[in-house]
Amino acid sequence: MAEFNLTRRPRRLRGSHHLRSMVRETHLRRDDLIMPVFITHGENVRNEIPSMPDIYQYSLDEVDRELDALAEAGVHRVILFGIPSEKDPVGSDTFCDDGIIQRSLRHIRDRYDDFYLITDVCFCEYTDHGHCGVVRDDGTLDNDATLKNLQKQALSHAEAGADMIAPSGMIDGMIGAMRTALDKEGFSALPIMSYAVKYASSFYGPFRDAVESAPQFGDRKTYQMDPANRREARVEARLDVDEGADLLMVKPALSYLDVIADIRREFDLPLACYNVSGEYSLVKAAAAKGWVDETGIAHEKLLSMKRAGADLILTYFARDLAPSLDA
Ligand code: PBG
Repeated sequence: MAEFNLTRRPRRLRGSHHLRSMVRETHLRRDDLIMPVFITHGENVRNEIPSMPDIYQYSLDEVDRELDALAEAGVHRVILFGIPSEKDPVGSDTFCDDGIIQRSLRHIRDRYDDFYLITDVCFCEYTDHGHCGVVRDDGTLDNDATLKNLQKQALSHAEAGADMIAPSGMIDGMIGAMRTALDKEGFSALPIMSYAVKYASSFYGPFRDAVESAPQFGDRKTYQMDPANRREARVEARLDVDEGADLLMVKPALSYLDVIADIRREFDLPLACYNVSGEYSLVKAAAAKGWVDETGIAHEKLLSMKRAGADLILTYFARDLAPSLDA
């Protein structure tokens, strides 16, 4: 006879790995992960990004190393970021048939038949001022002039063979503008994954090293969201849904799990989140010091994003974590 009569003993369901696996509510799968890839101009370039260990900028003649490693690890979805040879005030490399992303798309298409190619659609890596669009003389971002260039960029990526485009500039009306342009030119089947809820975050610091895109003046607070705001995330997401977004994204991920959970509850579209550069670097730095178990921490973080409601995760951990996951 037990001394205590506990009607509910949750530990009863934790007694063996079989049981734990049977009652597990959330699973992290290889297919949930999307790997960011940085492609730069020039030749023979394989630069490790100092603030992002194990992540490299590659020139096109070197990028197959990364793609081969990804294929080997079972990661077939990538999001491409470009670093052009020339930056200018409007980021014209982004809508030029010979731009770094357009050439990358064709290069990968020619060599590999099983990669799903998503392109980040923005201007900050391509403008000499580092802002995400056309800037007026007074330094403010010209929303509607930027929309026109976004249409050009979206079309140019579509023509070069993108499978999906992911606009990340937080420009009002960007989804509607791009959808209209794509539909008009025969790309009505091309999906748009909107960075619908993107905060003005300090967690992007290492990424800006990676693509050399830190703003030369000011900051991105007039277009990216205030980290203090939760309700506003729903306002942003609703606009993008109404304008025709096919998938939504919340970015960053780890400090915004409440927002991921809100968006999951409110909308039925597939939901991605971006486990951004700073979230990656913090783990790598602590692991390099031997303070934390890198794989354990990375897995637990990504699992928390799934548990909060994300379907897909853009993460720099994809390549290294995928082999330990089920498909
Ligand atoms: C904009 C863009 C950024 C990231 C993805 N797309 C940077 C920014 O808004 O400054 C950040 C990704 C990361 O930090 O990993 N093109």
